[in-house]
Amino acid sequence: MDKLQMVGGTSLQGEVEIAGAKNAALPILCACLLADQPVVLRNVPDLQDVRTMLKLLQEIGVTVDFPNPGDRSHLVLSAAVIKSSEATYEMVKTMRASILVLGPLLARMHSAKVSLPGGCAIGARPVDQHIKGLKAMGASIKIKSGYIQAETKPQSDRLKGVSILTDMITVTGTENLLMAATLASGITILENAAREPEVGDLAELLVKMGAKISGIGSDRLVIEGVEKLHGADHSVIADRIEAGTFLCAVAAIGGEITVKDCRPDTLDAVIVKLREAGLKMEIGPDWIKATMQDRPKPVNFRTSEYPAFPTDMQAQLMTVNAIASGNSTITETIFENRFMHVQELNRLGADIAIEGNTAIAQGVEKLAGAIVMATDLRASASLVIAGLAAQGETQVDRIYHLDRGYDRMEQKLTLLGANIKRVK
Ligand code: EPZ
Repeated sequence: MDKLQMVGGTSLQGEVEIAGAKNAALPILCACLLADQPVVLRNVPDLQDVRTMLKLLQEIGVTVDFPNPGDRSHLVLSAAVIKSSEATYEMVKTMRASILVLGPLLARMHSAKVSLPGGCAIGARPVDQHIKGLKAMGASIKIKSGYIQAETKPQSDRLKGVSILTDMITVTGTENLLMAATLASGITILENAAREPEVGDLAELLVKMGAKISGIGSDRLVIEGVEKLHGADHSVIADRIEAGTFLCAVAAIGGEITVKDCRPDTLDAVIVKLREAGLKMEIGPDWIKATMQDRPKPVNFRTSEYPAFPTDMQAQLMTVNAIASGNSTITETIFENRFMHVQELNRLGADIAIEGNTAIAQGVEKLAGAIVMATDLRASASLVIAGLAAQGETQVDRIYHLDRGYDRMEQKLTLLGANIKRVK
């Protein structure tokens, strides 16, 4: 298993280009199942999770072409022929986002068999809302030997438009139901819809494919089903979490960097908190110049659904708090077990205690390098930041977690002057 070795203490200088958003690319790849014409995608990030999703789609029958050899950000997907409506356990167990083929397959093929995603390190992450919504749209769904078996009854029927209110705000739940509704007969209303920018980016693609959607960006999506969708050409929105991760890196490590090709308008809550921590930021339309000369100030924050502070940035901002000039409280309201980075940060000399879904960080002057272990995607990013802020050598093991959601992070950090390398 790969590991990252680093020596802390050098500040970051230079520019970093942000890739397309993983959490927009994954549903957007699945949306191509809704049409029998090619969908051209640009700014797709080259990540493990994207490669896994492409493999799953190819097993289903989607052809994947890269028009410019060597450029994996530009691809053409064609779902002209669907040869299987099944997402096997082998595929789904490595990536929970595989559940996103359920809605499109059911809408296009009127049947789908998708393995129930297993649990995950950060929480149980059930998909009951996805199932509840599809049942409300007329699908008959059985859970049998670990698989979701869904079909319209009779199979000649389309899904039916209906008003759905999910029990909680769910990002992929909203995305699954939104995709299913585009080909349903009649009007579907999704109340309590997720407002994450990645949901909006998916909706923009669907509209380009001929879907009729209103309320994009709001918590109430109204979809008028159509018979067919056609091909489209779409560039994936910039990854706000990757951008936020690099902003937290310079806030903790110090220096001056410019984050380019990003969308500052999707980072309001993160910018507010990092300003409170003392990060100086100059903000342009698609770039942020961030400077940190002093020790961070502590910031209290709680995660919540967009537009509030994102749970996917919690571990990274906690690392900034770990070395801040005071105490701070961090409350995680989305997932029940998303504090696994705390013990690892404490191995690096942090002083963080957990009480229920709140972590209390007593800022320390300096962290000290150690061997630590990544446990999940965003935790691994927080440990890399901590290792580069610490004195001495740090090694982060199990960085396959990092590779799922960051495109060559250690290369981007090296270009910013960090002393970091990947060890096989
Ligand atoms: C998406 O996961 C993201 N993944 C996650 O990013 C992100 O952390 C999360 O949204 C929250 O923003 C992708 O978009 C691929 P949810 P998702 O459904 O859709 C509960 C990363 O690091 N829930 O919004 O699975 C659930 O347990 C990943 O990039 C149900 O109870 O999250 C959680 O407590 C991690 N039943 C809460 O809702 C359901 O049917 C929010 O989950 C669905 C969700």
